[in-house]
Amino acid sequence: MGGELEIKGLYKSFMVNSQKLSVLEGIDLTVGDGEFVVIVGRSGCGKSTLLKIIAGLEMPESGTLRLAGKPISGPGFDRGMIFQEHRLMPWLTIERNVALGLGRVKKKDRARIARKYLSMVQLEGFENAYPSQLSGGMSQRAAIARALATEPDTLLLDEPFGALDALTKIEMQDELLRIRANQKSMMLMVTHDVDEAVFLADRIVVMSSRPGRVRAIVNIELPEVRDRGSADFAWYKKKIFDYFFEHGSEESTDFTI
Ligand SMILES: Nc1ncnc2c1ncn2[C@@H]1O[C@H](COP(=O)(O)OP(=O)(O)O)[C@@H](O)[C@H]1O
Ligand SMILES: [Mg+2]
Repeated sequence: MGGELEIKGLYKSFMVNSQKLSVLEGIDLTVGDGEFVVIVGRSGCGKSTLLKIIAGLEMPESGTLRLAGKPISGPGFDRGMIFQEHRLMPWLTIERNVALGLGRVKKKDRARIARKYLSMVQLEGFENAYPSQLSGGMSQRAAIARALATEPDTLLLDEPFGALDALTKIEMQDELLRIRANQKSMMLMVTHDVDEAVFLADRIVVMSSRPGRVRAIVNIELPEVRDRGSADFAWYKKKIFDYFFEHGSEESTDFTI
């Protein structure tokens, strides 16, 4: 079982051309065990940096991050990450790609586990195919299987469907909800697609432009299975867009509903 993710007073900057570029400023965010939180914000506002810090791939400048009560100090098997590009190794079969992260597992069990997760993302029959033989959607399914195979309590998804066509993207969103119903893992996903955010999230975090701050947190109180054509769905989309495009002082626009 996982536990809560707690981020307090997170600051991060990078040195760019010997100038300090402030990227994240005072992020406070708590994500519950099994919760699906989607982060939206303009390009460059620090969303990927935030996920990398949670993954333990980047260090924060200040602030505390705890997962299930333990400070995050580096990468760990309790967190899996999925990127916009599938990042599969072209010279390995799909099964071998999925088994890559299973170093801790006994060798004889690796293929079985890889096959189990490939079947979960509906790729049975493609175990021995190479990434170049799969479509974009299938490759992204394989990347999801690879992240799930280590059985992380927390899945970090950085615009995972950003490169897919509109219909494949909708299929993948359904797939993700199905997997989530099975796995009960915490999902923290970045997207710039507001429709996707409202379709998937329990809560949406809207970030301000760089330096990234939490501008608003919106609870999505819609039925578990959502109707993209409903008036309530459209209402939430408009609400998120309104926060997104709001101008004026960042300080005065920090609020939560
Ligand atoms: N390793 C790095 N070194 C210097 N600048 C970086 C680095 N990583 C990200 N940045 C800068 O930080 C800002 C936020 O980047 P990123 O987190 O990728 O934004 P987003 O994912 O919201 O588009 C950008 O201006 C980017 O250029
Ligand atoms: Mg990014």
